[in-house]
Amino acid sequence: MTETLDIKITKNQNSSLAQTDFDNLPFGQTFSDHMFIADYVGGEWKNFQIIPYGEIGLSPAISALHYGQAFFEGLKAYKHADGKVSVFRPYKNAERFNKSAERLCMPELPEEIFVQSIAAVVDIDRAWIPSKANHSLYIRPFMFATDPYLGVQPSNTYKYMVLTGPVGPYFSKTLRVKVETVYSRSTEGGFGFAKAAGNYAGSLLPARKAVEEGFDQLIWTDSKDHAYIEELGAANIMFLLDGKLVTPSTRDTILKGVTRDTVIALAKEWGYEVEERRVSVAEMLEGAKNGKLTDAFGAGTAATIASIGEIEHEGQLYKLIDPSQREFSKKLLKTLEEIKYGIIPDTHGWNYMI
Ligand code: PLP
Ligand code: COI
Repeated sequence: MTETLDIKITKNQNSSLAQTDFDNLPFGQTFSDHMFIADYVGGEWKNFQIIPYGEIGLSPAISALHYGQAFFEGLKAYKHADGKVSVFRPYKNAERFNKSAERLCMPELPEEIFVQSIAAVVDIDRAWIPSKANHSLYIRPFMFATDPYLGVQPSNTYKYMVLTGPVGPYFSKTLRVKVETVYSRSTEGGFGFAKAAGNYAGSLLPARKAVEEGFDQLIWTDSKDHAYIEELGAANIMFLLDGKLVTPSTRDTILKGVTRDTVIALAKEWGYEVEERRVSVAEMLEGAKNGKLTDAFGAGTAATIASIGEIEHEGQLYKLIDPSQREFSKKLLKTLEEIKYGIIPDTHGWNYMI
């Protein structure tokens, strides 16, 4: 680490830890006692603070609310059996944070500020990190524009904040998904590769329609022909097709997932052939029919490894092999968890110890 961040800390005198039910943690509803906040003013990041989690005062004219200059990251901290705490691959998120910032015409945040701010909030709320299997502390860094000005132009001022909260598994069951052939999440030349708030806003209506039709998630396809697979809801999508790990290659329409990168690294080590390429809906459905598609899952920080059980495409339902029979994703989930919780050695240096 380079210079340590000078953070002003105001402790929460009214902790809600004792009232928190750690046996019931729906994703994103419980927040730890503290949050990090910093300002971008006059061309630099300043006023680094940790304050009690709670409301902040903002002008109703801030440009984030009107023109969507806002984006976020998502990562997790884990408690090991010996009480040590690690955050998984935070420099990867720091790198992507700045890719999002650049595309949305927002200021760069030095990677050390990103990582040290996360380390500081995780450290102060260590007691909030669940010890149960499959549970962790979700970390949500984000940046938004704060100029109170209604002209359409990049803001001059911004806030960077980090919230944390204990979470359990995001999906509790095998997913029934639908291939989206009408709506698009992103388009060439757009900003699908960024973790922009607006990408998620645009996904809500199609996702709600899919839920109304009885599906859990959508498989996003390319916006031109809806013939190529891109992502699975808020996760990357990966298949075991003909014994090879196949996943859409990342491009400007696809988020370059940290979990995706981790899965690819492990698969290569285990001797699997990995193909990052355009993946057509047709070949995936053919694989489902002829039995060559032996695994299919979403890969993401919140989602972890989420098995896809059934796929619908234009009125036809394709049932995949039972998740209990899937060697690859079972081994993957187990290995990933064991690395993150410090059960097996972290030979890649993925765990950032706090
Ligand atoms: N794709 C989208 C649209 C996402 O929101 C996420 C979640 O962060 C991912 C992919 C997976 O990325 P990661 O593995 O870095 O969490
Ligand atoms: C994550 O996996 O961290 C995400 O950002 C997904 C989410 C939008 C809940």
